Amino acid sequence: MNHTPHASWAEVYDLAYERSFGPLYGRLTDLTLNVISELCASPSHIIDFGAGTGRLAIPLAREGHEVVAVDPCEAMLEQLRKKANGVEIVTECCSMSDFRSSKPADLALGVFTVLLYIQEEQELLESLSAVRSALKDGGRMLVDVATSALFHGFEMSDGLLTRQVTIQSCGGAHYLYRESLELQNPDGDVTRYDDEFVIRRWATDEILEIARACGFVIERDLSAEFAGSGSQYFLLQTE
Ligand SMILES: C[S@@+](CC[C@H](N)C(=O)[O-])C[C@H]1O[C@@H](n2cnc3c(N)ncnc32)[C@H](O)[C@@H]1O
Repeated sequence: MNHTPHASWAEVYDLAYERSFGPLYGRLTDLTLNVISELCASPSHIIDFGAGTGRLAIPLAREGHEVVAVDPCEAMLEQLRKKANGVEIVTECCSMSDFRSSKPADLALGVFTVLLYIQEEQELLESLSAVRSALKDGGRMLVDVATSALFHGFEMSDGLLTRQVTIQSCGGAHYLYRESLELQNPDGDVTRYDDEFVIRRWATDEILEIARACGFVIERDLSAEFAGSGSQYFLLQTE
């Protein structure tokens, strides 16, 4: 499979997530922003890895932070730039492992399942090592680890949007994620979006061990605060 996940449906990504997860989605965003505001006063330098359409990057930039949004999917970054509507955010179209910066940051984000797109240990090592290099000494990373709760397909339909997600084991820790969306247009036509890509279910210990090998210590386990999100959240700090 040689394509970038999310590229085919980036323009309906926000609608799909808002409609599928309802108020929980907004509450998770508010909670994440509150945690970040306790970690760093504005203005801080924040790199949002896997920024997607800017769920966190845009409000953080509005709060006055200097934000770099990193994502390998140009179509997702295009949505981010449209929504930012003049708010200054630097966008970098690359994967976490390829990111390089000469200006060390205070905080890195890699949340809302960004790590499950990384399929091999070597790439995870290179990714967290690149994050470490992009941070100041004493800088931090907020990261989540998807639990088994997120490895189930679902279907929803609300008159505007019909969404079907299937997640099938490919054996071992790898899964095939399939997305199928139908959007009802005002003129009665239906627009269809399809995507499929491989994701990996990482064990928490695998990620934390690789984080330690890249020069992080586990500062806090924030999973209790994020209960119900389907992920464990950790605050890492550079040694
Ligand atoms: C589910 S979205 C989460 C977006 C955003 N972090 C949020 O909190 O709303 C996952 C994002 O990770 C991006 N991604 C996938 N592989 C990546 C990688 N190797 N490095 C950085 N981002 C990646 C995808 O393109 C997608 O935009």
